Amino acid sequence: MALSKQQNILLIISGGIAAYKSLELIRLLKKDGANVRAILTKGGSQFVTPLSVSALCENECFTDLWSLKDETEMGHIRLSREADLIIIAPASADLLAKIAGGHADDLATTTLLASDKPVTIVPAMNHMMWNNPATQANITKLREYGHTFIGPTEGDMACGEHGMGRMSEPQDIFDHLKKNSKPNPLSGLKALVTSGPTYEPLDPVRFIGNRSSGKQGHAIAAALSKAGANVTLISGPVSIPNPKGVHTIHIETAAEMLEACQNALPTDIAICAAAVADWGAETNAHKIKKREDGALPVLALKENPDILRAIATHKKRPNLVIGFAAETENLAANATAKLAKKNCDLVLANLVQSGAESVFGSDQNHVYLIDANGSQDWGKVDKKAIAARLVAEIEKRVEK
Ligand code: CTP
Repeated sequence: MALSKQQNILLIISGGIAAYKSLELIRLLKKDGANVRAILTKGGSQFVTPLSVSALCENECFTDLWSLKDETEMGHIRLSREADLIIIAPASADLLAKIAGGHADDLATTTLLASDKPVTIVPAMNHMMWNNPATQANITKLREYGHTFIGPTEGDMACGEHGMGRMSEPQDIFDHLKKNSKPNPLSGLKALVTSGPTYEPLDPVRFIGNRSSGKQGHAIAAALSKAGANVTLISGPVSIPNPKGVHTIHIETAAEMLEACQNALPTDIAICAAAVADWGAETNAHKIKKREDGALPVLALKENPDILRAIATHKKRPNLVIGFAAETENLAANATAKLAKKNCDLVLANLVQSGAESVFGSDQNHVYLIDANGSQDWGKVDKKAIAARLVAEIEKRVEK
């Protein structure tokens, strides 16, 4: 499998004659299917141009922390969040000192300080600079921070001297990355996620709907995609953006959601996080008018299809079908009954309340994972953390 298929690599090129080798590294990574973004430091741009970097990356080359355009459209926080791996090549002695000291005075150092992603450092410098106790102390510190080093190697230097400090060759860096890369756990698998509410029109201006922000379903779709799955998200009306890298289909009614789900099958995994309206009504072509005599309209409700059940009993049933259970009482009993009734493998159950403690729109939720073996309390945590934990559960189950 490719090292970098669907991997987002952020390459930081700092000042050094070896910067030209980074162009070849970009070429190797791109050939392997990676999405490469690059930051070129001020020093780096003395050796290679932003134009050659961006042409090879097929992405904009980022250079300036204070560029308004970069900060609004692609700031240092996004650059670090959207990377799976950060590579610094070449890493100058000065840049090593800055990151060891926690400096943040340009785009490269700010992005690194704001990142929780794995960092691989490929140093390049004169052998005296490399052997200097200050540099060695910085390297010890950076290893303690969990950063990985590739090289340097010993040989003739651009300055005419000989010693340790040459930047590793691009092919060696690439081979090292490939050997040490973990394949994406859900790579090659297809997943279907439903999210948000459905709106069932009564007339051109009114609808019946459920409360739902879509935050949980969208977070699950994003986490599955990050783990390498090919995700289709079927979303009802929400005000949050489509998750990056996820094929998102917008629908409004339960019937449209069902049709979109059926069209997305077969998949390996299905997760129904949508708050589907259980009932719809005959739609009036014109706005229902208030009556002079004060008589109330009579709404003839019809039951909507159960999308989760339809997927879980479909002839193209995904191997793993996961539902949610929103309950206001008897959580464990009701959720366990839903697991069986809807033919699911797992159910994430939560108590829903109205008012200040409401889960709707909140960033947190308190859920229980329910399967054939019983129930696990996951506590009250962030919806993104629930998504990550659910994906870890999925990984365990698809490994078997
Ligand atoms: N669900 C669905 N289609 C429906 C209703 C629910 O796909 N028409 C899915 C939800 O996405 C969720 C699960 O079924 O994964 C349970 O939803 P919930 O609202 O808790 O239960 P209901 O099936 O609606 O049952 P009840 O309202 O009686 O609790």
